[in-house]
Amino acid sequence: MSVDNASIESVLKETRTFDPPATFAEQANIRSEEQYNEMWQRAKDDPASFWGELATEHLHWFKPFDSVMEGKMPETNWFSGGKTNVSYNCLDRHLETDRRNKAALIWEGEPGDTRVLRYQDLHREVCRFANVLKKLGVETGDRVTLYMPMIPELTIAMLACARIGAVHSIIFGGFSADAVADRNNDAQARIVVTADGGWRRGKEVQLKAAVDAAMDKSPTVEKVVVVKRTGGDVDMVPDRDFWWHDLVEGVSAECDAVELDAEHPLFILYTSGSTGKPKGVLHTTAGYLLGATMTSQWVFDLREDDTYWCTADIGWITGHSYITYGPLSNGASVVMYEGGPNWPDEGRFWEIVEKYQVSIFYTAPTAIRAFIKWGRQWPEKHDLSSIRLLGTVGEPINPEAWMWYHEVIGQERCPIVDTWWQTETGGIMISPLPGITPTKPGSCARPLPGVVPDIVTKDGTSLEANQGGLLVMRQPWPHMLRTLHGDHDRFVSTYFSEIDGCYFAGDGARRDEDGYIWVMGRVDDVINVSGHRLSTMEVESALVSHELVAESAVVGFPHDLKGEGICCFVTLKDGSGDDELVKVLVKHVREQIGALATPDKIRFAAGLPKTRSGKIMRRLLRDIAAGRESVQDTTTLEDLSVLAALRNDEE
Ligand code: PRX
Repeated sequence: MSVDNASIESVLKETRTFDPPATFAEQANIRSEEQYNEMWQRAKDDPASFWGELATEHLHWFKPFDSVMEGKMPETNWFSGGKTNVSYNCLDRHLETDRRNKAALIWEGEPGDTRVLRYQDLHREVCRFANVLKKLGVETGDRVTLYMPMIPELTIAMLACARIGAVHSIIFGGFSADAVADRNNDAQARIVVTADGGWRRGKEVQLKAAVDAAMDKSPTVEKVVVVKRTGGDVDMVPDRDFWWHDLVEGVSAECDAVELDAEHPLFILYTSGSTGKPKGVLHTTAGYLLGATMTSQWVFDLREDDTYWCTADIGWITGHSYITYGPLSNGASVVMYEGGPNWPDEGRFWEIVEKYQVSIFYTAPTAIRAFIKWGRQWPEKHDLSSIRLLGTVGEPINPEAWMWYHEVIGQERCPIVDTWWQTETGGIMISPLPGITPTKPGSCARPLPGVVPDIVTKDGTSLEANQGGLLVMRQPWPHMLRTLHGDHDRFVSTYFSEIDGCYFAGDGARRDEDGYIWVMGRVDDVINVSGHRLSTMEVESALVSHELVAESAVVGFPHDLKGEGICCFVTLKDGSGDDELVKVLVKHVREQIGALATPDKIRFAAGLPKTRSGKIMRRLLRDIAAGRESVQDTTTLEDLSVLAALRNDEE
């Protein structure tokens, strides 16, 4: 990861603040400034006793741990000697309480079909599917790919893997066959669980067909389990493909949760890197679960009677931590929705809020920007008075979108938690606490207890208030990633080599005079399209894999709806491009990576601006893509005429 552009100029000045509503503060899980300060200080000074006490109090252990934390970043070990199981914590322990009859999952399909699974129902289904996995030969430590729509079987499959110690690798359903094959191979997955398809804006997303195409290039995968969701036509290969409903038929609903080491791997989740292939972020059992559990309590202030809805897809970390593991570990009732927010119309989300009386609503700025575009008449058609808390995640939220969220959805009544975190951090790191933190639109406020951030220069020096720099973590936390699957060196070099002794995952930020953190986006070349972090490098490789393309450079540019759009500069091997070739290349990228990487602009160029060592200078291209004058340093540019040609082309 490069930190070349580590000094960041802050242009955002925001002075509005909003106090938490008094009624909220009175009953919140963390309810006073003193309590927060005391927790934060204690976690900083004595992390072992802080996290150790929480782990004992909030998790179930088959065998207690001997020590809380060993080692230092990047090699830390949490709760060693302890034995636990994530599935047991999310299910079995609730069955001994009144929660056994509480709704765990309240699911709605896009066509309007619904399913409610109480904790005991979910437990039964998870045990059955865990037994199925065992019958298919899955053993503790084996990797299982889940490439599924947002249906209850996805949650069931995750918890079934966790129950027997298999490691799930979930691939977002928007990825293409090639992306599935790459991830199958990197993870060496033995089983793929998928569905015939899923519903998205009235159309079937054909998942099984993509798996079929991926199977030709996935030599480690032995068997495919298919959920019948849409009823669409699929090819079932004998002895390789099995229907989920056939496999669970008559299978016992009893399956003891395996007593796993605290550091047993729980899942791999692929995330884009700025260079090379996607990174298989690996999270482990106890530390991850403790983080997901505690942050859900602190940030969402979960109470027994809440109906909680996180609109993310489970294929991203937000869905892992805040649809499945965090809320279920806390015994919450979780709403899960399969389809698009504008199907059959733009009021769908608000209809769901009203129908299930959602009290906590967690979404992404890209969704909020779409709601704003569609207009307030949609939410205004529905009763949103059940909502008591709003959240956002995924990218910086611009203050005007924050204000709209506050006024139109929160009706000026609900605190907004702007939560900063990453796939790598496993759980929320920086966020307002809804009962106590006055919020400022656009700021994710202060670190949670146990999180010790700093804002530094490239040489690790802490910066003064209001100076933009690199956001780092100075202290380890239990839910941090442990490695990148199969590439520990890359793990160390990506996150721990830039700033000595610190974790750095690439964001720029500043801290204001009140200690509030304002995240300013990535300092490297990852683009955030509709809340999805895409590697420019992956899009470039996809383009270059086309026979006519010589070279390409991909950058983001500001996009009203998506946050960032994808602009591709392409040089051809021969001749000049035309509109027809633009269409061909767009289709090519979609096939290689998936619809989420669809280029918004493709521009042909005779040459790309490069440094003398041959590195493409994307920062210059970003200005061109955004149509703005560049004030950047061009002294390292090898050939200035290339830049002039690109600019002329613009005009
Ligand atoms: O740049 C930050 C941005 O999203 C990145 C993490 O992306 P990912 O691993 O896909 O996880 C997204 C969901 C946790 C961060 O490095 N980001 C996330 N939340 C915020 C944010 N930027 C500003 N404010 C946030 N609240």
